[in-house]
Amino acid sequence: MKRFYLESYGCQMNVYDTQGLERMLEDHGYTRVVAPEDADVVLVNTCSVREHAEERTLNRLAVLTRLKAKNPALKVGVCGCMAQRMGGEIKKRIPRVDLVIGAQALPAVLPALQALERGESTAPVIEPLDHYLPPPRPRLDARNLKGFVTIIRGCNKACAYCIVPTTRGPEVSRHPDDVVLEVHELVLRGAKEVTLLGQNVNSYESAGVDFPELLARCGAIPGKWRLRFTTSHPRDMAPETVRRMAAAPRLAPWLHLPVQSGSRRLLKAMNRDYTLDQYLAAVEAAREAIPDLALTTDLIVGFPGETAEDFAETCALVERVRYDTFYAFKYSPRSGTAAARRDDDVSPEEKQRRLALLLEVQRRLSHEVNQAYVGRTLEVLVEGRDAKRGNGLSRTGQNKIVVLPWSDALVPGHFLEATITRAEGQTLYGAPVDAAPAP
Ligand code: 5AD
Ligand code: SF4
Repeated sequence: MKRFYLESYGCQMNVYDTQGLERMLEDHGYTRVVAPEDADVVLVNTCSVREHAEERTLNRLAVLTRLKAKNPALKVGVCGCMAQRMGGEIKKRIPRVDLVIGAQALPAVLPALQALERGESTAPVIEPLDHYLPPPRPRLDARNLKGFVTIIRGCNKACAYCIVPTTRGPEVSRHPDDVVLEVHELVLRGAKEVTLLGQNVNSYESAGVDFPELLARCGAIPGKWRLRFTTSHPRDMAPETVRRMAAAPRLAPWLHLPVQSGSRRLLKAMNRDYTLDQYLAAVEAAREAIPDLALTTDLIVGFPGETAEDFAETCALVERVRYDTFYAFKYSPRSGTAAARRDDDVSPEEKQRRLALLLEVQRRLSHEVNQAYVGRTLEVLVEGRDAKRGNGLSRTGQNKIVVLPWSDALVPGHFLEATITRAEGQTLYGAPVDAAPAP
C-alpha cells in the first residue's frame, strides 16, 4: 500500500498543507501517483468555508470510494478542515471512507495509514497535535516561477460567520528562521515570486519578530524576485507594514484587505473588530504611501439581517474604494459559528440577486480602474504563453495579467518593462518597451 493520490480543495494554505502531506508520505516510502485509479491510498484535503465546498467534496468522495469496486484494497482518507469540523459524521455520510484526520491533526495521517496497512481500522483524529507536518519540499508552481510559504497557522479572531478558527484552531506562528530559510530555498531554485500565507499574516509574531520585521528579513534575500503576502486583517495591519512596502521595491504593490461589508451595522454584527472609518483610514494610508497600489477585497452578501440598505452601503463602499477587483460570496451558515445561531433570513434568490449586482459593479469598476493603466509602463514578470491564442502572458506587481505579443525575446521568469496599450475587463494588453505592437 505505497502509492498515494492526493487532491486539495480550498485556500492556498490547504495547498501548502497538501504539499507537506506529500513530503511526509514520500519521506516514508510512499510514491505519489497522478490518477486515483493507480493508487492504494486516496487522500482528499478539504475545505469548510462554505457549505457548497463541503457538498462538492462529499460528492467527490462518493465517486472516489466507488473505485473500491475495482480495487477492494483501496483506502480512502479525508483530511483538512471538513474532516476537523465533521469528524465521525463523514463516515455516516460516506461509509466507505477509511480515514478522517482533521486540519489540526495532519501528522496523524502517517500512523493512521500504517495502522490500515496492518489491517486495523482507524478512528477519526481531530484532537490538535502539537507537532507539525514537515514543510513541503521547496517547490514551485507549474510554470516554475511562484512559491508559497505559510508563516502562521490558525486564527484568533471570532468573525461571526467564519468556521476557520474552529477548523484550524488558534494562531501559531512559525519560527522566522524557518520561514526565511524556506523563502531562500525557493529563490535559489528560481522562484520569481514568493507569497507569504496566513489567515491573518499581520498578527505574525515569533521569537520577537513581528510581521513587518519578517517582511524585511525575507525581503533582504538577494536576487531579482518579488515578495507578496496574503491575507491582511484591516485591524491588525501595522502602519509599519505599509511603510516597508513603500520603501522596498521587492514588495509587490498589492494588498488584499477583506472588508466583508460596507454596512457599519453589519460589520459590528459580523464581529469584524474594526469600524468602517478605521477600514477607510487604513485604505487611505496605504494608498498615500504606495501610489501604485492595487487593492482587492472579499465581500459577503446576505449575512443574517442584511437589509437592502445594508447591501446598498456595500455597493457604495465598492464604488468609493474602487477596488482593482474583489471576491464576493453568498453567506453560508456554518454550524458552530455565532452567526449560525441567527436566522439565515435573506432568501437564496435575494442572495443571488445581490451577488449578481455586485459582480456587475465589479465589472464596470475593474474596467474603469484598468483604463487608467493604458499608456503606463510597468515592470512585468513573463510567465509563459497562452495555450489558446499563443500570446505571451505576464504579471505586474499589482497582480494584473498583461498579454504581450509572443516573441522569442519573452523568456518565462524574466522581468521586463511593458507599456500598456489597451485594457479589457481584468486583462491588460501591452508590448515590451521598444518592441513590436501589442496583440
Ligand atoms: N459564508 C460565505 N462566505 C464566507 N467567507 C468566510 N466564511 C464565509 C461564510 N460562512 C468568505 C469571506 C472570507 C473568504 C475567504 O470567504 O469573505 O474572506
Ligand atoms: Fe477552507 Fe478556510 Fe480551511 Fe482554507 S482555512 S481550507 S479556506 S476552511
